[in-house]
Amino acid sequence: MSETLAEKLSNIVRDPYTHAKFLNTLAFMENAGARKISKFEHKTNVSLLILKHAAEEHRHAYYLKKQIGKLGQLGFESFEDRYLIAPKESRYYLDLLDVHVCKYVKTHFGLSGYALKWAAYLFVTYAIEVRADELYPIYQNILQTTASKIQVKSIIVEEEGHLEEMISQLQSFAPDWEIHAQAAIQLESALFAHWVNAL
Ligand SMILES: [Fe+2]
Ligand SMILES: [Fe+2]
Repeated sequence: MSETLAEKLSNIVRDPYTHAKFLNTLAFMENAGARKISKFEHKTNVSLLILKHAAEEHRHAYYLKKQIGKLGQLGFESFEDRYLIAPKESRYYLDLLDVHVCKYVKTHFGLSGYALKWAAYLFVTYAIEVRADELYPIYQNILQTTASKIQVKSIIVEEEGHLEEMISQLQSFAPDWEIHAQAAIQLESALFAHWVNAL
């Protein structure tokens, strides 16, 4: 039987070097998410909400990377493979999710060009926020029980806000958004299971 996420994370947190690698991996993924938000921005139509979201994801990357110092670990200056856990799966998670959701949105909404990109962005980000709202509390719980110097509470608060923001954007995108959001979650779950397995 494969280990659960909590079991994997407990093992990771036990060893400072592996824990540092995990923090660097999360920082990498947060940074990739932040870059994705900026990439999908409209040329002129950029709301305060989108700026806030991008700024917060960038902050998460910065914050997580900065925590590595608290573990007394050095040498995690880059996101090169040797400084990440499951580098291949971590790199592909977001890219593959984009590809799969884009295909789904194209088939179900018949969109193209910027409209397609934007719709895919909404569903991809929604699925990621649902995941963040599951992953960070599990991680925080382990940090708390092991009296770790690392804390991710401030990230949890912001991720909860992001999920609400994505829901309100999806509601104005399509009245039947929930059916499609479920499809996005299914696509994400397969990729996430693959990632957890590789940790
Ligand atoms: Fe984040
Ligand atoms: Fe987020």
